[in-house]
Amino acid sequence: MRPLIVIGNWKMNGNLASNEDWIKTVARGMESGMPSGRKFAVCPPFPYLTQCASLIKEHSLAFLSLGAQDASADIAGAYTGEVAASSLKEMGCSYVIVGHSERRQLHHEVDELVAAKALQVLDSGMTPIICVGETADERNSGRAVEVVRGQVAKQLTVLQDRLADCLIAYEPVWAIGTGKVATAQVAQDMHRAIRLQLAEFDEDVASHVGILYGGSVKPDNAVELFAMPDIDGGLVGGASLDPQDFLAICKA
Ligand code: G3P
Repeated sequence: MRPLIVIGNWKMNGNLASNEDWIKTVARGMESGMPSGRKFAVCPPFPYLTQCASLIKEHSLAFLSLGAQDASADIAGAYTGEVAASSLKEMGCSYVIVGHSERRQLHHEVDELVAAKALQVLDSGMTPIICVGETADERNSGRAVEVVRGQVAKQLTVLQDRLADCLIAYEPVWAIGTGKVATAQVAQDMHRAIRLQLAEFDEDVASHVGILYGGSVKPDNAVELFAMPDIDGGLVGGASLDPQDFLAICKA
């Protein structure tokens, strides 16, 4: 049985004071007890990883793990501005988001680069969260499943059965930051298509891979989304910035 996983992606937000308030608020909320069989993580911007790791430890937040929003496809060396996966592991990260659509769009990241990043994350002992998703034009032209299958196929080619140690996040680009959440059925249909594609490769891999949904997840839609059989949790952007909303989604 796959655990339900809720991960907050703060994107380029936060500051030392608000981060501390966020962790303290989430700690108080989690102390009162969380649903069993679930995992939670927060992915702050790189500069705040040490602070958040220290606060998580200080508040004995056993339920909350730390993640990062990207990692280099290279192991180490002359790559100015890059962050090595091994460094993120040293900072206490358990998860790393790779191939987020904002990085695919703004930094021209292609599937091959995303797979290389995922390999570095796996080799450093962390779980990659591999983001896939179609644009509004691709969905409106009836190509959504074709596009996402193509993205997943490129990951399968490189990662093979190591994909079982990854998370996949289906984030329809048209739902990110727009408030236009995919209906639970639309999301489930794509998650099912991804899982069937993985099963074509290896049924065991397909049964193990957690597939998260991302794109305007809020407290008022999380219950219906998470009730779907192939939705194994959420990758939450805007709503994760409010600790109370994040807690509500974690408890959904
Ligand atoms: O990585 C999660 C993010 O892309 C979703 O953003 O604001 O639509 O929840 P948001």
